[in-house]
Amino acid sequence: QIHQQEYLVNGELKKWNGNITEVFSTISSTAEYAPTLLGSIPDMGEPEAMDALDAAVGAYNQGQGVWPTMKVKDRIECMEAFVKKMEAKREEVVKLLMWEIGKSLPDSQKEFDRTVEYIYDTIEDYKQLDRDSAKFQKHDGVYAHIRRGPLGVVLCLGPYNYPLNETFALLIPAIIMGNTTVFKPAKHGVLLITPLLEAFQSSFPKGVVNILFGRGRAVAAPIMKTGKVDVLALIGNSKSANALQDQHPKSNRLRLVLGLEAKNPAIILPDADLDLTINECLAGTLSFNGQRCTALKVVYIHEDIKDEFLKRFSEKVDALKFGNPWDDGAKLTPLPEPGKPAYIQELLDDAKTKGARVKNKKGGKQSDNYIWPAVLYPVTKDMRVYEEEQFGPIIPILSFKDIEEPLNDMAESNYGQQVSLFGKDVYTLSPLIDTLANLVCRVNLNSSCQRGPDVYPFTGRKDSAQSTLSVHDALRSFSVRTFVAFKDN
Ligand code: G3H
Repeated sequence: QIHQQEYLVNGELKKWNGNITEVFSTISSTAEYAPTLLGSIPDMGEPEAMDALDAAVGAYNQGQGVWPTMKVKDRIECMEAFVKKMEAKREEVVKLLMWEIGKSLPDSQKEFDRTVEYIYDTIEDYKQLDRDSAKFQKHDGVYAHIRRGPLGVVLCLGPYNYPLNETFALLIPAIIMGNTTVFKPAKHGVLLITPLLEAFQSSFPKGVVNILFGRGRAVAAPIMKTGKVDVLALIGNSKSANALQDQHPKSNRLRLVLGLEAKNPAIILPDADLDLTINECLAGTLSFNGQRCTALKVVYIHEDIKDEFLKRFSEKVDALKFGNPWDDGAKLTPLPEPGKPAYIQELLDDAKTKGARVKNKKGGKQSDNYIWPAVLYPVTKDMRVYEEEQFGPIIPILSFKDIEEPLNDMAESNYGQQVSLFGKDVYTLSPLIDTLANLVCRVNLNSSCQRGPDVYPFTGRKDSAQSTLSVHDALRSFSVRTFVAFKDN
C-alpha cells in the first residue's frame, strides 16, 4: 500500500497531516470479491492550493536567468535529468497503472514507454525550435528576431484513462517552454505519481512544478478564482473544463489547451474488406474497454453488409478474453470506476426500451467489476447511448443506405475529433475524405481511430478540443511568438 503523505510545493516535499482519501482498486485480491485498498492520498483544500499557486507565480516572476528566461540548454538539462530518473521507476509505475486503472500489462508498459519517448522527442523538437528562432528575418528594412516565449502559470489536470501519458503530454511541453505549473493528478491513476515525486523535486528549480492531491473542486476551483492562471490545460470532460473556465474572473485572457469528449464514428461502405474492418472495429471500440476519447463510439454499417458484419463482429467480441491486467492475453479488464457497470446497464436498458437489441450472446453479462461488451443494434438517435460519450464497452451500431445519413449525423454532432472510413473504391473514397476532413480533424482510412503516433496533431472541432497537442504542436500551444525588431539605419 502507498499512503501518500507528501506533496510538492516551491521545491519542497511537504508533509501532510490532514484528512486523507483512501484509494481502492476494483480488482479483487481475494477469491471472494472485495475491492483492494491500494493506499491513500491527501485531501487538500484552498490553503495548499494557494501555496502551490503562489509558488508557481513566484517562480514565473523570479527575475532574469531563472526558469522562464533560463538558457534553453539549461532547461533541457533539467528535463533530461527528470526523464532519466523517471525511466528508473518503470516497474513501479507500470504496476500501479494495472492496479489503479485496470490497464493490461502490455498497454501499461506501452503507456510508460510512449511517455518516455514523448519526453525525449519533445526535447529534440524544442532544440529544433530554438535553432529555428536563431535566424533573423528582414522585411521592408525591419529586422526581426522571432522566438517563442512562455505564457505564464499553467494549471494542469489529466485524465484517469491515460494518467501518465496524457497528463505528461500537457505538463512536459508546458514546463520545457518556460511556463510554471500547478498539477493535480486524476482521481484514478493518482498513486502512480508517488514514485515520480522525487524526480520532479530534484530536477527542476523551485516552484516550476507544484503537485497537489485532492478533489478538483477543492483545489482547482480556488486556483482559477484568483485569475492568476494563464493556461488551463485539461484532458477530461467539458463539464469540468467549463466549470473551471467560468471561475476565472477574466476568462478571455485564459489560453485553453483542452482534450474533451468525442463520439468518433466508423463508416463502413459496402465494398469494405470485412476481415480487416472487423479487426479494426474491435480494437477501435474495445481497446481498454472503450475508455479512450479516441475510441470508436458509433458504427455505421451499410445495409448490404449489415447482417454479415453483425454476426461475425458479435462472435469476435464474445471470443475476447476477460481477466486481470497481468493475465496473459486478457483484452478485457476490470473497469476502474465502481459505478461503471451499473451506468452501462442503464444505457443498455434505455436502448432496449427504445427498440435496440444486444446481438452478442455474452453482451451485458455483469460481474462485480465488469460488464461484458454489448453489440447493440439498431441504435437510434433518441437513445442515451447515442448521445452520451459512455466511455465503456457498448458498441452502438446504426445501418445506412445513403452516405448522406452518417454525414448529416456528423454535421449535427457536438463533437468532431476523428472518423474511421472503411471501403476500397478510390473514386468513392476520395471526395468523401475531403468532406469528412471538414467535419473532424483526422480521417483514418481502413483503420481505427487513435491518437498516436504522438508526433501527429491531436485535436478536434466543436466541443472535442481546444488547441492542438502532438510533440510538435504542444510546444506551440504552450507558448507565444515574441520578437525583437530593429531598423536598418
Ligand atoms: O483518451 C484518449 C487518448 O488520447 C487515446 O489515445 O488513441 O493512443 O489510445 P490512444
